[in-house]
Amino acid sequence: MAKKILVTSALPYANGSIHLGHLVEYIQSDIWVRAQRMMGHECRHMCADDTHGTPIMLSARKAGITPEEMIAAVHTEHSQDFKDFLVEFDNYYTTNSPENRQFAETIYLRLKAGGYIDIRSIRQFFCEHDGIFLPDRLIRGTCPKCGAEDQYGDACEVCSATYQPTDLKVAHCSLCGNSPVLRDSEHHFVKLGAFTDRLREWISVEDRVNPQIRRKLEDWFADGLQDWDISRDAPYFGFQIPGTTDKYFYVWLDAPVGYMASTQNWAQRNGQTFEEWWQSEDTDIIHFIGKDITYFHCLFWPAMLMGSDFRAPRRVNVHGFLTVDGKKMSKSRGTFIKARTWLKHLGPEYLRYYYAAKLSDGVDDLDLNFQDFVSRVNAELINTLVNLGSRTVNFLNRKLDGQLCPPDEASVKLLEDLRAAAPEVLGLYEERKFSAALRRIMKLADDANLHITGTAPWTMVKTDPEGARAVCSGGVNLFYRLCVLLAPVLPDLARKVGELTGHPINSFEDLSVLMTEGKVGDFGSVMDRVAPEKLEAIREEAAAEFAGAGEGAAGEAKGPEVDARVDPEPLEAEIEIDAFAKVDLRVGVILSAAAVEGADKLLQLTVSLGNLGTRNVFAGIRKSHDPEKLVGRKVILVANLKPRKMRFGMSEGMVCAAGPGGQEVYLLSPESDAKAGDRVH
Ligand code: 2FM
Ligand code: ZN
Repeated sequence: MAKKILVTSALPYANGSIHLGHLVEYIQSDIWVRAQRMMGHECRHMCADDTHGTPIMLSARKAGITPEEMIAAVHTEHSQDFKDFLVEFDNYYTTNSPENRQFAETIYLRLKAGGYIDIRSIRQFFCEHDGIFLPDRLIRGTCPKCGAEDQYGDACEVCSATYQPTDLKVAHCSLCGNSPVLRDSEHHFVKLGAFTDRLREWISVEDRVNPQIRRKLEDWFADGLQDWDISRDAPYFGFQIPGTTDKYFYVWLDAPVGYMASTQNWAQRNGQTFEEWWQSEDTDIIHFIGKDITYFHCLFWPAMLMGSDFRAPRRVNVHGFLTVDGKKMSKSRGTFIKARTWLKHLGPEYLRYYYAAKLSDGVDDLDLNFQDFVSRVNAELINTLVNLGSRTVNFLNRKLDGQLCPPDEASVKLLEDLRAAAPEVLGLYEERKFSAALRRIMKLADDANLHITGTAPWTMVKTDPEGARAVCSGGVNLFYRLCVLLAPVLPDLARKVGELTGHPINSFEDLSVLMTEGKVGDFGSVMDRVAPEKLEAIREEAAAEFAGAGEGAAGEAKGPEVDARVDPEPLEAEIEIDAFAKVDLRVGVILSAAAVEGADKLLQLTVSLGNLGTRNVFAGIRKSHDPEKLVGRKVILVANLKPRKMRFGMSEGMVCAAGPGGQEVYLLSPESDAKAGDRVH
C-alpha cells in the first residue's frame, strides 16, 4: 500500500555557502526520497534556510546590508546549489516567514499555558562597546582548565574541557576585543526535565533512532535533562517572544519549527493542508540530521512538540560527518570545498555515486578520498556501468542500423536476475544501506559485462549478425534495468537513458520494461571518465578561495586551526644564527627505498642531491612509511652530517622528519618546484 511520508533535511544556516560536508546529508535524503517515490509512495521533502541568530545578524552588519537582504541572497544561492546537485525539495522555504512566526508563537504559548516555561534572571557577559550580550561563541578567553588562550566561551579546543563563559579566566569580546562586564537579564527556559518520561518512552520505540544514537540518548537521560534557555536579548535577528519587548526566540527554537512552516507553505500552495501531512496518523514524519544536532532533534524538539500538541517524528535518521582524505575539512589544505566549486569542474552525479557507495545507516564519518574517488568512479561508474551501455548502443548504431531485436537467451536470464534482485535492492534503499545496494547492483553490472565480453558481438557480427544484434539488444536492456535500479542515485543518467530508449524511467516497475524492437538513439557523451587533474583543480580553487581567511565555519572569520601536540618536546637552548648556518640542509629526491633485513625500524634510501651526487641513508621510518610510496618524493636532507658506519653499511646523511616516532614520523618536504640540491635557508 502506498505510504505518505514527510521527509525533512536539516536547515542550513543562511550565512555561508553549501559545501561538500552539507551534501552528505542532502544527497542521502534525496536518494532516499527518490527511492520511496520510485516504490510508489507519496513522499514529500521539506527544507528551508535557517535564517535567524547572532552570527547572521553580525555577518549582515559586516557586509553593510540588512539581514533580510543577506538571507534573500543566500536563499537564491542555496536553492541553485541544491538544484544543480539534483537535490529536489518539494519546498525550499525560509524560517523568516509568517508561517514560522505563527508556529513558533503557538508552540511557545502552548508550552507556557501548560506550565512548561520558567522565566528567571541569569548573569551574562555584556559588551558595552557593541551593546550586546556575549553568549558562548561571542566571548573568548583563557581556558579555566588548561590555560590555553583565546578559547570560546563554552569549550576549549586545546583540552576539550567544557565550561560556562563566566568561568573563563581572562575574557574579551570576540568582536571588538574589549573586556566585557557582567549583567543580569531575564531569560525564558523550557523545563525539559518535565518531559523526561514521555521522551524516554518516545525513544524506546524500535527504529526511532539507530542504536548508537539510542545509547547516547540514554547517557543524556542518565545525566538528567536540564532546563533549556530559549530566549536571547535584543539586538537579535529573529522573532520577538510574545508578551515581551526585548526578548527573542533563540534560533534553535524556531529552526526546527521551520519544518512545519515549510510543510504549511507547501500544502497551502498545493491544495493540501498542514493537518493532513503533519498531524495525520497516516503520515510518517522522518528527519535526516547530522550527529552534532542530535540533542536538538531527539530531546528539545520532540519535547516542544509534545508540550504543544503537535505530532513528534516517526524516525530521526542520523549520519556522520564528512572527512576529506581522512581529515576534517580544511580551508588551508583546499579540502573545504563549496558545492559551486565542485560543480565548476565535475558533474553532481560523480559525487552522488561516491557518497552513495560509502553511505550506510550508521553514524560513522564518511571519507572522501580523492585517489579512491577517481579510481572507484572510473572503475565502477564509467568502465562498468556506462561502458556496458556505450559499447552495445554504439555497436548497434554503427553496424546494425541501431535496430533492436529480442535479446539472446543468456541476456534474458541476466535480465531476470536484475528484476529478481529488486526486492533486496529496494530493501537496502529503504534501510539507507546505500553502499550495500550499490555493491549488489554493480555485481549485476559485472555479470552483464562478462556476458557481452564473452560473446564478443563485434566478432560474431561477421558470421552471425542477427546473433550479434540479440546480444547487443540484451546489453541495452541490461543497461536500462541497471539504470532503473540506480535512478535514485543517478537521476540525470536515468533521464538520459529514458530519452535514449524512449522509455522514461519513473518507477521501479520499469524493471519490467523489455525492449525487443525499434531503434535505439545516439548514446552521445552520457558520462565521461574523471581525470585526476579535475580533483587537483578543485582543491587548488578551494584553497585559493580561502587564502588568507583562516579556518572556521563558512562565512566566519576565525584564526587558523592549530592541530597541536598535547605534550610537545621542550625547546632546546637558544643558539646563534652561525650555529644553524653550519647545518647544510638540502633538497633531495628519493631514488629508491627498501626495507633493511634484520632492522625492523629502518629503511635504506638512495637520495639524489642532483649535481651534488647521491647519498645512501638509513632512516628510522619503516613503521611509518611504505617504501614503494617514497620513490620520487622530495625530502630535506642534512647533507653535511659526518657519515656514520652502521651494522648494515654507511649512512651518509639524515632525512628530516617531525613527530614522536613509531608510526608517527612525518617526513618534511619542500614545495613542489624546489630542485634537488637546493639549499634550505
Ligand atoms: O546545525 C545547523 O546547521 C542548523 N542550521 C540546523 C538546523 S536543523 C533544524 F532544526 F532547523
Ligand atoms: Zn565588543
